[in-house]
Amino acid sequence: MGLFNPASFAKEAVASISEQVAGRGVIAASGGVDSMAAAVLASRALGERLLAVHVDTGYMRLDESQAVGLMLNEMKVNHRVVDASDRFYAALEGVTDPESKRRRIGEQFIRVFEEEARTFDAEWLVQGTIAPDWIESGGGLRDTIKSHHNVGGLPEDMEMELCEPLRELYKDEVRALAEHLGVSVAQRQPFPGPGLAVRVMGEATRERTALVRQACHIVEQEIEAAAGAREMDMPWQYFAVLLPVRTVGVQGDVRAYGHTIAVRAVQSYDAMTAQASEMPWAVQQRISRRITNELKEDINRVVYDVTDKPPGTIEWE
Ligand code: XMP
Repeated sequence: MGLFNPASFAKEAVASISEQVAGRGVIAASGGVDSMAAAVLASRALGERLLAVHVDTGYMRLDESQAVGLMLNEMKVNHRVVDASDRFYAALEGVTDPESKRRRIGEQFIRVFEEEARTFDAEWLVQGTIAPDWIESGGGLRDTIKSHHNVGGLPEDMEMELCEPLRELYKDEVRALAEHLGVSVAQRQPFPGPGLAVRVMGEATRERTALVRQACHIVEQEIEAAAGAREMDMPWQYFAVLLPVRTVGVQGDVRAYGHTIAVRAVQSYDAMTAQASEMPWAVQQRISRRITNELKEDINRVVYDVTDKPPGTIEWE
């Protein structure tokens, strides 16, 4: 890789977006580093002619959609945060198969996003596609949008022109660019497009998702604190999974019959392979005690997943 200069890249990208995009553009801002960097560049080029749409699917992490809205505000990007959680929970009612969950979330996402694009009269779709997103698949433009991407499988009849300012960049370059632009998500751990829906085994209802959201938050807080205090290495990805298993426990002197949370933390380079993170006993205990205490109405057992990838995957679904 040659020397990447984020300042001159940004300057040229803004100029070329201004030249390319006549009229209005819309971008789906997930809060991830790619879409945020692309949104900031496009906003600098187009001003009010760009609309960044953040869809709150109901499967985001704790306060995440709010944080994305604040960030877009701070970066002065014209945006809307759309709370579409009712629609997503309804679409996933009774659905337990992981791939069906992904498909339904993808479909709802496109529907919500298209509605917003239409009310804004957008003619251009700005996307934060980066080089690894299209290099390996090598097919036509639409094939190259990975099916697991947030805006997976854009419909053929979506009559917008595509603008992809980050197309030639690799992840480390995007991170450098984001840092240069002042996008504060630059170092956050990866988060799957379908969000917490694939961390609730079985039906991802509003209530069950709220449990895993809280558990994920505890896992993040405790691991980040432990890594900050050098008790352990910072994992590449770390989260909680809600299992459909109920086990017997005691709550005070009373028999309880609660649900189980699995904690997952892995080291990885590119997500193709991963090793379960070594987590000190004290950290495991703090996580377990907090989860069973703060969620004591529902959760009475916590387990740690020690499986590598392969044979496991990083997510459980
Ligand atoms: P797995 O579970 O396949 O995950 O080992 C590898 C990486 O991809 C993320 N992941 C997804 N990302 N949509 C996404 O955008 C998805 O459907 C999806 N499934 C898994 C996972 O979090 C890990 O970083």
